[in-house]
Amino acid sequence: MLIFPKQNLSREQQSRLGARLGEIESLAPGKDIPTIPLSNQRSDGTFISPGDNLYKILRGNEGWHTDSTYMPIASKAALLSAQKVPSDGGETEWADMRAAYDALDTLTKAKIENLSAYHSLFYSQAEMGYEHQIGDGYGYHDKGSPLRTLVKTHPETGRKALYTGRHAHAIPGMHAEDSKNLLEKLLQSACQAPRVYRHKWHAGDIAMWDNRCLLHRARPYDMTKARVMRATRIIGDPATEQAATFVDNFAPEISPITSNT
Ligand code: OGA
Ligand code: MN
Repeated sequence: MLIFPKQNLSREQQSRLGARLGEIESLAPGKDIPTIPLSNQRSDGTFISPGDNLYKILRGNEGWHTDSTYMPIASKAALLSAQKVPSDGGETEWADMRAAYDALDTLTKAKIENLSAYHSLFYSQAEMGYEHQIGDGYGYHDKGSPLRTLVKTHPETGRKALYTGRHAHAIPGMHAEDSKNLLEKLLQSACQAPRVYRHKWHAGDIAMWDNRCLLHRARPYDMTKARVMRATRIIGDPATEQAATFVDNFAPEISPITSNT
């Protein structure tokens, strides 16, 4: 990940910078908006409230994740810039999943080598107590949950990385409880010093990162203090970021496969 301090790029400039990395993901389906505002403040100056979908989405971003793994094609890179930042909290953190993979013991590496997990935004949001409907926003689709490997080989460097995050659930071949415990343990141990970088934003800063080998999260902030960001996501390569299979159900209580015995 790279930080370019105090660039003050316009929305169009951010989109053009993103376009240098590949095809931009449309985060507002049906609309051609390559770079979207992520703001807890409405244009009339009032703040969003806990019942708003956007509030739930912004709070959801506070859990470790990599972008768009719940979509048929996951994101390969992203840009995030700060327009307005609160004085306390609201930092962004990134964790290196190559180093996290390397730090695993041999037994764990062997155990997860051939495992996969389903990825769903309905699942990750439900874990935070947020109910969502199809059509609630980007990612709340009816395409089902994509199945993704827990170990990802980087398509450009060939290096292995742990590929998980809050959207991952229901490892096929494992009991629901065991799967949940394993995913929690992996995430918890992966996102620790010295593999985590925290950025304290200044207005105008822009970050650029590789979603194929890093996890990220926003740190909590007071939702009555303005935090205005702009996000751009670069779509992955179908050869390496397109999920092989899907399940129709995305409800967390319906684990697709609980056991293969
Ligand atoms: C995102 C995201 C984190 C933040 O835009 O995808 O996770 O700090 N943002 O706002
Ligand atoms: Mn994100």
